[in-house]
Amino acid sequence: MSEKPTIYKGLEGIYVYETAISYIDGFNSRLYYRGYRIEDLAEHGSYEETVYLLWYGRLPTRRELKDFKGNLRENMELPPPVIEVIKKIPKDTHPMEALRTVVSYLGNFDPGRFDMSLEGMFRKAIRLTAKFPTIIAAIARARQGKEIIDPDPRLGLAENFLYMLNGERPPELWARAMDVSNILYAEHGMNASAFATLVVGSTLSDYYSAIVAGIGALRGPLHGGANELAMRQFIEIGDPDKVEEWFEKARAAKRRIMGMGHRVYKSYDPRARIFKKYAKMFADSVGGDLKRYYEVAERLEEVALAKLAEKRIFTNVDYWSGIVYMGMGIPLDFYTPLFAMARVAGWSAHLFEYVAQNRLIRPRAYYVGELDKEYIPLEQRG
Ligand code: CMC
Repeated sequence: MSEKPTIYKGLEGIYVYETAISYIDGFNSRLYYRGYRIEDLAEHGSYEETVYLLWYGRLPTRRELKDFKGNLRENMELPPPVIEVIKKIPKDTHPMEALRTVVSYLGNFDPGRFDMSLEGMFRKAIRLTAKFPTIIAAIARARQGKEIIDPDPRLGLAENFLYMLNGERPPELWARAMDVSNILYAEHGMNASAFATLVVGSTLSDYYSAIVAGIGALRGPLHGGANELAMRQFIEIGDPDKVEEWFEKARAAKRRIMGMGHRVYKSYDPRARIFKKYAKMFADSVGGDLKRYYEVAERLEEVALAKLAEKRIFTNVDYWSGIVYMGMGIPLDFYTPLFAMARVAGWSAHLFEYVAQNRLIRPRAYYVGELDKEYIPLEQRG
């Protein structure tokens, strides 16, 4: 047998290709999309502008952004058979599973679904990015037995999502917070879900299969599923005075603090800082339980960082986003779908970039089993 190679569990520290899409400076709390700081994009930009930036590699002019938005707007509606499928999904299905099902089914209606050329993928990415908010809002309403609302072509993707979810135009703070959430979650390098999409894309399979793989990977609690679980952890604690006791018990039980720790960030995630600001705004304006959960989260962050920062475990993006979503009345199990709704932009950007310089992703696993064993026919095995 060959000499044992170095094994990089979890592919930690492995670079799979060269990218110009985003850069994480994990020791200095910095995240850049195409060279622009995340703080600037969240302060001044919009999700649509961010998607353009990620896909085209530069900020759009006013005219280009207008056309791009128009293109998205024309693609927001769902084919009627897809709406029928959404209505038939069992009510106890987790929305991430529902989303995976619907995106997969939607692929059947795309006229150029097997076209993996750059132009073909681009067209599909526009269609899907435009439809994501419509799909998620429709899943939420169908589950509650409510009628499904068509997108309003006058509204952008974030505002439209809230409109289709609630049946009325959201307050300004909500629309802005949802847009910022989309910007913050849009892209994040070679994380598990982006890699999953590339594994599928690298076989020259099809765009929808690649995105479905991304959704599947994102759902897990160690990845995007953490935003829902972080909120559930604040609810479980329930009271800021119970934080210390809860934390000690959690540590003793070797429970992980959801929304903390990261494979790349060894400092405070800059996206978490922005979400925290919005979480505070919602906590102050909504008050009641939300304010209490914010205080729980704040206290837990303080206690956890005091103990965990020496291990270089800090707050990540999924810690504070739930408070913002709860402030808008979004059901807990829709938090990870909101992550997916934004991340489809990053997954698509990586697919464009990777497939253009494609190489089949095919790593190895080092074999440690036996060899040359005698095969005993079934009838002689007893
Ligand atoms: N709470 C408590 N301890 C932790 C945590 C945490 N959240 N995260 C890591 N650790 C400890 C871990 O137990 C280990 O300790 P020891 O060396 O004593 O065994 C040490 O830190 C290193 O952990 P690791 O598992 O080797 O680190 P990793 O790079 O594999 O972990 C992670 C990254 C995100 C899976 C992990 O930090 C985690 O499970 N966090 C909680 C889930 C979470 O918030 N996920 C969202 C990630 S950010 C958004 C996204 O990309 O989806």
